[in-house]
Amino acid sequence: MPIRVPELKDRKRRGEKIVVLTAYDATMARLLDRAGVDVLLVGDSLGMVVLGYGSTVPVTLEEMIHHTRAVSRGAERALVVADMPFLTYQVSPAEAVRNAGRLLKDGGAAAVKLEGGRAVVDVVKRLVDVGIPVMGHLGLLPQSIHKMGGYVRQAKRPEEAAVLLEDAVALEEAGAFAVVLEAVPAGVARAVTAGIGIPTIGIGAGPDCDGQVLVSYDMLGLFDGFVPPFVKQYAHLADTITAAAQAYVEDVRAGRYPEAPAKAPATT
Ligand code: KIV
Repeated sequence: MPIRVPELKDRKRRGEKIVVLTAYDATMARLLDRAGVDVLLVGDSLGMVVLGYGSTVPVTLEEMIHHTRAVSRGAERALVVADMPFLTYQVSPAEAVRNAGRLLKDGGAAAVKLEGGRAVVDVVKRLVDVGIPVMGHLGLLPQSIHKMGGYVRQAKRPEEAAVLLEDAVALEEAGAFAVVLEAVPAGVARAVTAGIGIPTIGIGAGPDCDGQVLVSYDMLGLFDGFVPPFVKQYAHLADTITAAAQAYVEDVRAGRYPEAPAKAPATT
């Protein structure tokens, strides 16, 4: 049975964890879906791990639509959620509706994710009102990298933790169906998880969130840039791919691949 948006809230009620990974293409989406991942997030992290940008800031709506469409083709059971890139939802609710609508209509996503708390509640309300489900994102906000001055852990001080909880409540009241908590202390994530009725999806936020998300390229050991220390690497695909490509290079150079066809038996 395909996962639908309301199922995630039921999971929280039942105390069943929600498993989220990022995906950016149809093949990976198919593999992760087959493995039982509940939500495939087409994260704007694709800017860094797929497109080679230095941050998520340059990612465009067209790039997100292109990759979301590929993931939607590969996903059968998992819910597909697409990130709204920087400046596609902050200018006005009307622009946000138009842009989020394209991620659903052209990209095939079932929902969108956007960063921020009370600063974006008007946008969240408007999107939800017109039928576009929204996942929030609090704590470390990669699209605000220039404001934060780096990828630093958030809500370390009690007053920051209180603001985070207020933001989470505001997102729930605006109609968001879930909220990502990125790089916040485990105790803060636990308090937010207990303080709201919608699921929290943690990344670097300890074990007590209602679900967990990781960047698939990080947990598969495929991205050879900076990988945050909280990431558990379940594979080392960068090494596997490099070794396979090296073996191919050596075989072709040495004339071992392709093998010469077997000689036909001589006829008299
Ligand atoms: O872009 C992304 O991959 C994300 C996750 C890290 C939550 O937002």
